[in-house]
Amino acid sequence: MTHGGSDSGPTLLHDFSTNANPLPVPASLSTALQAADRCRYPDPHYLALREQLGLAHGVPPGRILPASGGAEAIRRLSLAALLQGLREVWVPSPGFGDYAAAAQALGLRVRCYANVTQLLQELGSETMVWICEPCNPTGESLASAQIAAVAARAALTVLDRAYEPLRLAGMAPALPSNCWALHCPNKALGHTGVRAAYLIAPDEGALTQSMRQLAASWVLSAEGQVLLMQLHRPEIQAWLAESRAQLRRWSVQQREMLARLSWQQRESCTPFWLARPAAPLDHEALRAHGIKLRDASSFGLPGWVRVATLPPQSQLALKKVITQ
Ligand SMILES: Cc1ncc(COP(=O)(O)O)c(C=O)c1O
Repeated sequence: MTHGGSDSGPTLLHDFSTNANPLPVPASLSTALQAADRCRYPDPHYLALREQLGLAHGVPPGRILPASGGAEAIRRLSLAALLQGLREVWVPSPGFGDYAAAAQALGLRVRCYANVTQLLQELGSETMVWICEPCNPTGESLASAQIAAVAARAALTVLDRAYEPLRLAGMAPALPSNCWALHCPNKALGHTGVRAAYLIAPDEGALTQSMRQLAASWVLSAEGQVLLMQLHRPEIQAWLAESRAQLRRWSVQQREMLARLSWQQRESCTPFWLARPAAPLDHEALRAHGIKLRDASSFGLPGWVRVATLPPQSQLALKKVITQ
């Protein structure tokens, strides 16, 4: 698996390869995480957490399924789908690699879609479909009607909303009532090292029961539980809104800087987007300067990178190394 962000080398100084929120996190969030009670197990039923998240989303707590990160949720839901008899999984291409990796590991047939028109032409009914909304790595977003059309056809549609809190333009499309939703707020909350996420099931039916049975005991750590408990606090939501405003300004600056360097850049509604440098990048040389961009080769886009928005001083550091 290829991922952006930390690697086995020294800590990065300017990490354009991660999609995590680069803004400093509120002190109250750090304090709450530090105070997580690691001396005992969390409630094995995560009742208070599920009640709080259920309230925030307007769903019964029984439909909230904690997971130890989006990556874990993707693996578990793929296995549950297999156990329900599904054999084919549709994944966006380019798209987050874990959907296909999870399906392949289970012997499920993986099909890739480049757009919804193609998906609707080829989609059978006994299938699982992953929709990344907004999409990593493209930053594209689908219309509510497109998602509804897919959900009406597939046996299981999952909307991965990992980057919804970092949407910089447009509105979140509607979630059809039969869709599953995956929320991975550790990126927006600037804490990707805390492995915590949750799924919202459309009902408490057989697939939801199976997901519960497949979950490891205490699937979510004490600090993971705290992170999810913090998400809907008004102060945290206000900070997220400020983050989006700041990222909007910085992304405009960064796009202008890259345009002046003759980079080709795709539209996106997120703080990250796909770009093609005017000349091939020397990723190793950049890494030696503590700078990293996400090489998009593993997304099927050699010569392209996914670049995330960073503050002006990081933009300058990137420009300096590229133009030297
Ligand atoms: C679209 C998407 N979904 C899910 C994940 C998994 O994130 P995590 O396991 O940290 O929650 C990622 C991580 O990069 C992602 O980009």
